[in-house]
Amino acid sequence: MSETVSRRSFIATAAAAPLAGTAAFAQSDSKQPAALRGAPPIIISSANGLPATQKAADMIAAGADPLDAVIAGVNIVEADPNDHSVGYGGLPNEDGIVELDSSVMHGPTHKAGAVAALRNIMHPSQVARLVMQRTDHVLIVGEGALRFARAHGFEEINLLTDDARKIWLKWKESHSQDDDWLPPLEPADKDKHSAAPREIQYTYGTIHCSALDANGNIAGVTTTSGLSYKIPGRVGDSPIIGAGLYVDNEIGAAGSTGRGESVIQNAGAFAAVELMRAGTAPTDACLEVLKRIAKHTTDKRLRQDDGRPNFDVKMYALAKDGRFGSASIWSGGQFAVYADGRNRLEDCAALYERK
Ligand code: GLY
Repeated sequence: MSETVSRRSFIATAAAAPLAGTAAFAQSDSKQPAALRGAPPIIISSANGLPATQKAADMIAAGADPLDAVIAGVNIVEADPNDHSVGYGGLPNEDGIVELDSSVMHGPTHKAGAVAALRNIMHPSQVARLVMQRTDHVLIVGEGALRFARAHGFEEINLLTDDARKIWLKWKESHSQDDDWLPPLEPADKDKHSAAPREIQYTYGTIHCSALDANGNIAGVTTTSGLSYKIPGRVGDSPIIGAGLYVDNEIGAAGSTGRGESVIQNAGAFAAVELMRAGTAPTDACLEVLKRIAKHTTDKRLRQDDGRPNFDVKMYALAKDGRFGSASIWSGGQFAVYADGRNRLEDCAALYERK
């Protein structure tokens, strides 16, 4: 933007652009493959997204905007107290406070919105959509994101369920022998505290969901409570456009779950979409991103003795022509897909076989 253009006139120009939503879909991409017209939608998600893909498929079949559909899909998981990686019931930061990250991206307008380190709001993906639709910004974080959500009337709740609090407390009492937090006495310990590490539940888990409708329009969302027990304010890949989510309506969509720092360092979702632009099939695009992540993992603490990463990342990719795929660093992963009118889990391709 030229320095002589005032912010006011810039916003006025921007306001003339098409808004996200059903109206934008009237200008559907004329380059869409003919085979897709009238075909059922295709929706992919992480394995925890099986209810999300079904919901999104039902909404798209009823005429919904694909972005509204995938957001409504992941909202089911954001509200699920039993999923400790997303939304309500997510595992908290090291202070015991749940902080959520989410991004959305709308292919037809190439607009995006995101929030990070958002507290007290069950559906960060809905707030991310409002950042896209009702601000001139892409990413709002922390206290600013909460104030923005409040301004739009979102209800504040305590996102820390009793179950998640107990899991966090177990971590708190067991992760160090050099502080004053002690785990409960085991019967065998009689009169002394045992600081032996007990099984601790960690998560980088997340939900990603992308959809392609019968008009060839694409949208995606990624939403998470992020790394469990993180330093307050830590932001992962999920709200970073180009890392945890990227959509190009002429090419496809990609998203990620798993160790967000590695995905950010390799611009994972953007790389996957660019690989598809260069003709790489979706599954191979996911594998290529994971190969880069493995190659660029240089810290000893993140590598096994054989040099392979000691963590996992999963990539998900959906191409404009309806092909889709997912891959994980380590074998054994699955992803959710709605295609050919059927909702199911499929196996991810893998970079390495887990022994
Ligand atoms: N991929 C989720 C996170 O690292 O926060």
